[in-house]
Amino acid sequence: MTQILLMHGPNLNMLGVREPQVYGVMTLAEINRRVEVAAAERGVALQTFQSNSEGALIDRLQQAQGQVDGVIFNPGAYTHTSVALRDAIAGTGLKVVEVHLSNIHAREEFRHKSLLAPVCVGQICGFGWRSYLLGLEAILGEIEKQAES
Ligand code: DQA
Repeated sequence: MTQILLMHGPNLNMLGVREPQVYGVMTLAEINRRVEVAAAERGVALQTFQSNSEGALIDRLQQAQGQVDGVIFNPGAYTHTSVALRDAIAGTGLKVVEVHLSNIHAREEFRHKSLLAPVCVGQICGFGWRSYLLGLEAILGEIEKQAES
């Protein structure tokens, strides 16, 4: 069975109350539930993880090495700052799709750059909670592509 890890970085545990005009009103638990339903419909197993701590996110990626087929990751603000998370993605060789609720390219300039995007398969942003569903489609497509080659 295909195994996917859905990871969320800092402050995403606050979804629903945090800047709803930017991030929407859906809670993280509800987003996880919707992605779980979509994964189950495709016969895919989904694990979820959220942490506000950079080290815990790195530990989780390292644990996932060789254990999951792909990762859907919203790194929150660490997207723009974390060389350590970039090194963890590159070092584990995990297939990661970077996901954001907001369109980071249409926001403050400091959000335009992702340090992680160059070591990810690709980036999806700007579609609210549906970005995660698109992330699921994207990572499953990548896994399928690899199986075909
Ligand atoms: C975010 C965008 C980041 O710039 C921000 O720091 C977040 C959320 C998003 O999902 O739109 O915490 O990753």
